Amino acid sequence: MKMVSITKTIFLLQIWILVNVSPYQLVHCKFSRLELPFRTFGPDSTAFDAKGDGPYTGVGDGRVLKYQGPNIGFTEFAITSPNRIKARCDGTNDPISQRMCGRPYGLGFYFKTGDLYITDAYYGLLVVRPSGGQATQLVTGFDGKPFGFLDSLDIDQEKGIVYFIDSGAIFKTSNRTKIVESRDTSGRLFKYDIGTKQVTLLLSGLSGPVGVALSKDSSNVLITEYIAQRIRRFWLKGAKANSSDVFTNVEGIPDNIKRTVLGDFWVAISNTKQHTTFSIGQRINQFGKVMETRNFTDQYNTPNGITEVQEHNGRLYVGCLDQNFIGVFRV
Ligand SMILES: *[C@@H]1O[C@H](CO)[C@@H](O)[C@H](O)[C@H]1NC(C)=O
Ligand SMILES: *[C@@H]1O[C@H](CO)[C@@H](O)[C@H](O)[C@H]1NC(C)=O
Ligand SMILES: *[C@@H]1O[C@H](CO)[C@@H](O)[C@H](O)[C@H]1NC(C)=O
Repeated sequence: MKMVSITKTIFLLQIWILVNVSPYQLVHCKFSRLELPFRTFGPDSTAFDAKGDGPYTGVGDGRVLKYQGPNIGFTEFAITSPNRIKARCDGTNDPISQRMCGRPYGLGFYFKTGDLYITDAYYGLLVVRPSGGQATQLVTGFDGKPFGFLDSLDIDQEKGIVYFIDSGAIFKTSNRTKIVESRDTSGRLFKYDIGTKQVTLLLSGLSGPVGVALSKDSSNVLITEYIAQRIRRFWLKGAKANSSDVFTNVEGIPDNIKRTVLGDFWVAISNTKQHTTFSIGQRINQFGKVMETRNFTDQYNTPNGITEVQEHNGRLYVGCLDQNFIGVFRV
């Protein structure tokens, strides 16, 4: 009689643990912050160099910072704007200052040379040598017209091709409501050939493209559409080459998309309901199936939500426009 009751108690305890210790609570325990320098905000995305050092991140005052470990923290690595005045720019985070100070969003290292490629909303596609410093502008427009607002990039390491997107000028307003209500479709996907320095327009008519990721087999690129709330796929190879289709629809506003080592993609998604913004990360496989969902709402209680989830060495690095840290979650 007694044995049975102890067994039953243990059984019920196991059930209780299963029900009450959800993965979200476990994630919570494994959360840490890489703090940015004083008064520095908006680490939209992250990148790691060929040695795995970093993260590097572009922030709201126009600088690209490099994380140098817990003792040193972040230091200035590069700047994009040729007009940047340090005394006026350091510590700012507003769209007016960003016109002069620069606003680097997308970062990607080309491992063959160690150079860092940067997409800056106001200063186009740039490159900076492995030691950092002032970045060099490569492309600032297409067909005689300046870009609207450059956001993300991804690099084909084999072929030396940079895929990058122009979100459309409406993004210069920095007003989430205005951007979504505009229903803008002037977004475009481009490629830049590092060898020939040639720029090619691949796809136009995108509705608020903000993230781009090359598939592991480099047969296609995925583009998140902020306004249309979906992920579009542009085919580079095969029978459908040069055409695009809808890869998957998203419940909420998707931001950056980053490929994992195994070929899945993490997508940062935010959803505003009754003045609260929920921040979710979803890992989607190459067929568009959601494999994993992580809820970052408790750690990112901000109006804009999160902008990126990137997996690196068993950790998730989470970016955000309003915060002064990069969140790190152990997987
Ligand atoms: C953003 O745009 C919306 C819609 O156009 C407007 O109602 C709102 O006041 C704007 N917000 C700010 C902070 O300018
Ligand atoms: C795709 O477009 C490129 C030029 O951008 C062209 O060279 C190529 O032949 C096209 N491929 C197909 C399958 O249409
Ligand atoms: C995420 O967490 C927030 C706050 O804890 C909660 O309100 C929300 O319902 C959760 N969302 C999902 C999709 O789990």
